[in-house]
Amino acid sequence: MSRLIEQLREDGNLPEEKLQRLLQTDEYDRELFQSAMEIREKYYGRKVYIRGLIEISNYCGNDCYYCGIRKSNQNASRYRLTEEEIMECCRIGYGLGFRTFVLQGGEDGWFNDERMCRIIRNIKGKYPDCAVTLSLGERSRQSYERLYEAGADRYLLRHETADETHYRILHPPGMDLQKRKECLFNLKDIGFATGSGFMVGSPGQTVETIIKDLRFLQELKPDMIGIGPYLRHKDTPFKDCEDGSIELTLRLIGILRHLFPKALLPSTTALGTIHPQGRQLGMMAGANVVMPNLSPAHVRNKYELYDDKICTGDEAAESKAHLAEQMSLTGFEIVESRGDRAE
Ligand code: 5AD
Repeated sequence: MSRLIEQLREDGNLPEEKLQRLLQTDEYDRELFQSAMEIREKYYGRKVYIRGLIEISNYCGNDCYYCGIRKSNQNASRYRLTEEEIMECCRIGYGLGFRTFVLQGGEDGWFNDERMCRIIRNIKGKYPDCAVTLSLGERSRQSYERLYEAGADRYLLRHETADETHYRILHPPGMDLQKRKECLFNLKDIGFATGSGFMVGSPGQTVETIIKDLRFLQELKPDMIGIGPYLRHKDTPFKDCEDGSIELTLRLIGILRHLFPKALLPSTTALGTIHPQGRQLGMMAGANVVMPNLSPAHVRNKYELYDDKICTGDEAAESKAHLAEQMSLTGFEIVESRGDRAE
């Protein structure tokens, strides 16, 4: 094993120049992925945890320049699920073997604390053996506290970039990196298993900003880290910006597995969209979670964060059996459990 990968394994704290080299060339990839697989194996074996992703609303009060469901996109066909529809998704998901439900949506005021707490209580009441994960953007500390008291277990909120200037390239005035970080520290402090992450290859991203992302994550110590390539959406100001690369995304998954040996690292939908075998490749780079789509079929193509987002085939929760088959070809085993982070 090369000295660089050895050092990465030993303390995860590579000096700046070495991290830069690791990020900029493909010369370490083989070793990096092999080593990442070993670390993953130590804590999680060959297990793959699954999450049923329920996209509850594509209304959003935010106007992030990269995102297809941004407020200013007049072409988005907006929807929000009813409480009954959400419960029906859980029922179907439970039958399929899902023991974590992820309720994700734009920042939609309709899903206020009262409605969200009722939904969370209903799900936890009916499926006490399941974890509920929320991904609903920035809310007040008090709101997060209420959701936690109602029984939510986990919360996903990507920081998107840990560099102030880059954050302002990606977001309109009014959105603020400090506020985002404060939300993340609040979530952790309240007791949520907390997830963060960023897009790979977003406009304005550099090796330096990526290193800042890694350093910020080391400070936050999240339980989950979601990354995926930036992919353009035709109705956004970034429509002509180049897509992120699968190579760099996989390399970063491998690096994250070293820096956060026990973290839950999803092989994301964006990775599956950019390459037909993207999710498998993610697993082989060190990921250990997949999040198939459990949203009702009639809304799936509306939750379009980027062009051509996959939502059928192996991406769909109904195809769990086929996904399991595909995963087993590469020696991975999908398990029906909450899939909490290793102790
Ligand atoms: N390409 C890739 N990922 C995107 N996201 C939003 N828009 C895009 C895009 N165009 C990601 C963001 C967000 C998560 C839900 O989806 O990182 O946090």
